[in-house]
Amino acid sequence: MAVWLLFAVLSCVLLLPDPAFGITRHYTLDIKMHNVTRLCHTKSLVSVNGQFPGPKLIAREGDQLLIKVVNHVPNNISIHWHGIRQLRSGWADGPAYITQCPIQTGQSYVYNYTIVGQRGTLFYHAHISWLRATVYGPIIILPKRGVPYPFPKPHKEVPMIFGEDDDDWEWFNADPEAIIRQATQTGGGPNVSDAYTINGLPGPLYNCSAKDTFRLKVKPGKTYLLRLINAALNDELFFSIANHTVTVVEADAIYVKPFETDTILIAPGQTTNLLLKTKPSYPSASFFMTARPYATGQGTFDNSTVAGILEYEQPKHARRTSIKNLQLFTPVIPALNDTNFAAKFSNKLRSLNSKRFPANVPLKVDRKFFFTVGLGTTPCNHKNNQTCQGPTNTTMFAASISNISFTMPTKALLQSHYSGKSQGVYSPNFPWNPIVPFNYTGTPPNNTMVSTGTNVMVLRYNTSVELVMQDTSILGAESHPLHLHGFNFFVVGQGSGNFDPNKDPKNFNLVDPIERNTVGVPSGGWAAIRFLADNPGVWFMHCHLEVHTSWGLRMAWLVLDGDKPDQKLLPSPADLPKC
Ligand code: C2O
Repeated sequence: MAVWLLFAVLSCVLLLPDPAFGITRHYTLDIKMHNVTRLCHTKSLVSVNGQFPGPKLIAREGDQLLIKVVNHVPNNISIHWHGIRQLRSGWADGPAYITQCPIQTGQSYVYNYTIVGQRGTLFYHAHISWLRATVYGPIIILPKRGVPYPFPKPHKEVPMIFGEDDDDWEWFNADPEAIIRQATQTGGGPNVSDAYTINGLPGPLYNCSAKDTFRLKVKPGKTYLLRLINAALNDELFFSIANHTVTVVEADAIYVKPFETDTILIAPGQTTNLLLKTKPSYPSASFFMTARPYATGQGTFDNSTVAGILEYEQPKHARRTSIKNLQLFTPVIPALNDTNFAAKFSNKLRSLNSKRFPANVPLKVDRKFFFTVGLGTTPCNHKNNQTCQGPTNTTMFAASISNISFTMPTKALLQSHYSGKSQGVYSPNFPWNPIVPFNYTGTPPNNTMVSTGTNVMVLRYNTSVELVMQDTSILGAESHPLHLHGFNFFVVGQGSGNFDPNKDPKNFNLVDPIERNTVGVPSGGWAAIRFLADNPGVWFMHCHLEVHTSWGLRMAWLVLDGDKPDQKLLPSPADLPKC
């Protein structure tokens, strides 16, 4: 055999993923401006491949993805594959200034990662400034070929991605940081959106939008898999379909113990797969599918309702009634601040924990952490005696984890760590519990000022972590959907009020807790999670309400390499963008 052939064969065997386990899929995402007409206006949005929402990416568990992202817009760009574990491939995770420098205008970057041990619904979104407002799309990970779902095979699968829309996004996109920059300058809250959308469509309850309605056309007597994704910027959403119950079968690309419900709650950053069983025969009616926010904070929010329509196909021989003349039912949705529903719903979510899909909850814990999450203030920094529009006219809104409002670095943390040049970029000393303890959910302390810094928590490879996240009532209690990059975690406990380290751990669920990548820390309460730090790299953790992230409710974990070759971060790609 010729030497080159031997070499070719060997390198196939050694370097390429075994075809029995997966294939390599190539995608190109062109980030460009795209005109969209919504809510009575045509606006030019930053979008993907001229589509809004962006195209759906499909892969199977075990596949390698090579996704070339090309930046054709004036703004810096980076894309995050939300919920993908990125085992040893942290370079492809995407958050700007955390794992990479942004892709500049006219440049491109190939995100290269393999999907290991995951299947279900996830999504991708821009991870810089507020660009994820319009730059997002579904990721569908099918099980390996020949492996069935642990539930009846659906007749059809339908992604439904929730977003937010705003008439001001014309100027917003001309200058994408405008909304949040304006807010950070005045110190007040940013503009709220004008509408929610399903697959980019606001639906008939908004002006000029009846023609922009998401319609789900179904046949009677069939089962549909609805892949719900909350890509909204700032709002947790209730969702319900009139006169139908649904079965929840998956959350954040993890199978759950199926349960039936009329309404689901989904936070930004979360995904939920539902089985919808249609009526056994043609119902001579249509049904609204609506979503509106669950809001616990004190600030203003968009309290409008997005509606799609569930339409049954008419039987061939039936007398034709125009769809317009059919009765249209509306679902009943919980009150905007129904914290009780939120608690009950999250209690129903349990890992499937079957033989095939066990819940590998870490039973022993190496390190315990207690972080507070919540709002706070910084002093008004206006030079020429202008007042601010924060909670008072001498303060601006801020947000923090353990009272540290995270300052974005100007160099990417992962690159700084990897090249041994972290001096002056970050401090490896994030506190393991609050420096000044107080009654977190009681009367707020007099001093509500946060400190600032770029502090990371350093973990040895394979550390088993327990983290309690405690909401604070400083400037009002509020539910915070906390998202951790690079890992799934188990939500072993949650409750209201202050976490009690003596009593509460006794009630932790270590058998079938929900495993996910984004957890709603209850308003005025706490959530306890566990995860195994088996993925070397720098991993962002933040509130998935964009306004809170911008205000500083974010930090990063630095997981060190292990000793073995397969416990180390892969080398940095040659085309990694530079700052
Ligand atoms: Cu979906 Cu760091 O985000």
